[in-house]
Amino acid sequence: MKAIFLIGYMGSGKSTLGKALAQRCDIRFIDLDDYIEERAGKKIREIFAEDGEAAFRDLERRMLLEVSDMDNVLVACGGGTPCFGDNMELMNSRGITVLLQTSHERLFERLKRGRHKRPLIASLTDEELDGFITEQLARRMVHYGKSAEVFDSTLLEDENQVETKCEAFIDRFNLPRKK
Ligand code: S3P
Repeated sequence: MKAIFLIGYMGSGKSTLGKALAQRCDIRFIDLDDYIEERAGKKIREIFAEDGEAAFRDLERRMLLEVSDMDNVLVACGGGTPCFGDNMELMNSRGITVLLQTSHERLFERLKRGRHKRPLIASLTDEELDGFITEQLARRMVHYGKSAEVFDSTLLEDENQVETKCEAFIDRFNLPRKK
């Protein structure tokens, strides 16, 4: 099977959906942020704080090159992965890119809860976060818009919704189920 790259804004459900798919499918799952942290031996927020964003993007690119060479793999990218260098072109040449699309309201709710581990938004107030999402998402759509496929990921709030979305994803992209 060709590699599948889950892309989309922070909080769009790339890791949630990816992990749930990996439990049900005979496929290798890689969360690119986890992969980077393992290789760097430190957390993303430490990389940003100690080495800066440019160093993080460089590492992200190198790790993406590694994983995009693998077969039968499902990769949950970071929210910024498609937006630097020719990462989007690389992913489109190696596999299928799927943009997870979520309403602004859902992104805001999820990121309010999960902002502490995300250096780009960790220090923002709720109001600033709301505006930041609108602005950055608009800028990032230039890159996200190059995805081969779009999949709605607004409803991933409980186990039942995750299950329903997983089934829809497996059927649509013909993922091999675990025996
Ligand atoms: C980032 C998103 C994060 C992580 C890093 C930068 C971004 O991943 O890669 O904090 O630029 O949007 P998630 O999308 O999994 O939060």
